[in-house]
Amino acid sequence: MPATIVIGAQWGDEGKGRVADWLAAEADVVARYAGGDNAGHTVVVGEKVFKLHLVPSGILHDHVVCVLGNGMVVNPVNLLKEMDQIRAMGVDVSPERFIISSRAHLITPAHVALDSVSEKALGNQAIGTTLRGIGPAYMDKTGRKGIRAGQMLRVEDFAEALYNMIEQANVTLARQGGVTLDPKTVTLDYLDAASRLQPYIKDTTVYLNQQLQKGARVLCEGAQGTLLDIDHGDYPFVTSSSPTAGGAMTGLGIGPRYIDKVMGVGKCFSTRVGSGPMPTELEGELGNRLRGTGENHWDEFGTTTGRPRRCGWLDVVVLRYAAAVNGFTDLFLTKLDVLSGFEELKIAVAYKIDGQRYEYPPATLAELERAEAEYITLPGWSEDISRVKDKHDLPEATRAYVQKVAELCQTPISTISVGPERDQLIHF
Ligand code: GDP
Ligand code: IMO
Ligand code: MG
Repeated sequence: MPATIVIGAQWGDEGKGRVADWLAAEADVVARYAGGDNAGHTVVVGEKVFKLHLVPSGILHDHVVCVLGNGMVVNPVNLLKEMDQIRAMGVDVSPERFIISSRAHLITPAHVALDSVSEKALGNQAIGTTLRGIGPAYMDKTGRKGIRAGQMLRVEDFAEALYNMIEQANVTLARQGGVTLDPKTVTLDYLDAASRLQPYIKDTTVYLNQQLQKGARVLCEGAQGTLLDIDHGDYPFVTSSSPTAGGAMTGLGIGPRYIDKVMGVGKCFSTRVGSGPMPTELEGELGNRLRGTGENHWDEFGTTTGRPRRCGWLDVVVLRYAAAVNGFTDLFLTKLDVLSGFEELKIAVAYKIDGQRYEYPPATLAELERAEAEYITLPGWSEDISRVKDKHDLPEATRAYVQKVAELCQTPISTISVGPERDQLIHF
């Protein structure tokens, strides 16, 4: 593998962190290319449970160098907190193995405050963002007035740019009834963060291309999911970045000729946090069973915000679409263990909208909101499969379920997982 991309095939939280951690064992470099600390990637290593928001999952492998790409938006204060947390868990996060693109944009407290004000103003139309300032930071980026990580290397210019940004944001915040910020305090906090992060800031575009030319193996760790993509997702109930395959190219500054594998990560049922259409959502007992009670760390409660995730049957319309948008070479299907004990399992194979059948999601929200899922029903299984290591030892119904999903989205399923731990996966 010169370069592999790992991408969420649904609405995020598919298990990308655990898949990236698995693939990182064979990689030299692991790079995040989109989003920021709206992501929450859980990786279980023995007794330790890591919840990573900005730092790539590759950090848990000593031989790997990790990169935060130019396509990301980085909150420097939250990044330092996360670095300290994982250091305290015994992980080396030195500048020799962790680098931040000088072209990545910074999230400031102004962006966080504006996110909150904007959500409040939307009332019951709110997107349900993670309130991490992601949208406002990308708005400043595309509006060509953002502050980039490289500016932290020139402290005087950085302080001035930040001070001005906060003052300008205060005007909007005051107008919209938000809490204004003290530009001096913010600037001092960020100067402190800048002095700590300076050794990590590099031209990661040059670094990645040099590595690829040398034959290094690069893993691009996606965040969010295809249906949250600014172009391809359920607009406007999306994030503000490009988590899909194209985003990996622009978000890292590498060309497509290096990519030989695009692995989609799909959960074997659907989950979504935040607002927006979800045609297979289940309310009541079945949804609660899929979600879990919160007792297990893998139950469906947000890694970043703790919000209960909306749960429902697997939606192959979504997977089929994600396979097309990203050009998946294969799929990794997670959480099969959670389906044990359901008498029967439903899979949405198409949508019905105003009497018409759709095998791919329609482009408009108005149509999506009227979509009714057309299901097929498969037999469930009662066995605990969480310790199965070989696909031949799985119940027939589990194998049939996996094969059916692959057939319906016309993409091979290469691996499935039956628990969050490193060895709880099965090659297919
Ligand atoms: P990501 O954002 O795509 O990395 O996914 P999250 O980490 O937000 O959510 C996935 C959750 O499922 C995490 O708590 C993982 O530990 C857990 N997980 C991943 N694969 C499996 C699996 O096969 N079985 C179970 N039970 N949990 C899993
Ligand atoms: P990982 O990488 C699930 C969702 C939010 C909201 C929408 C916009 O862990 O899969 P934002 O804060 O980005 O402006 O919110 O996107 N969202 C995620 N949902 N997993 C994520 O990341 C998400 N990142 C953003 O819930 O609906
Ligand atoms: Mg997550």
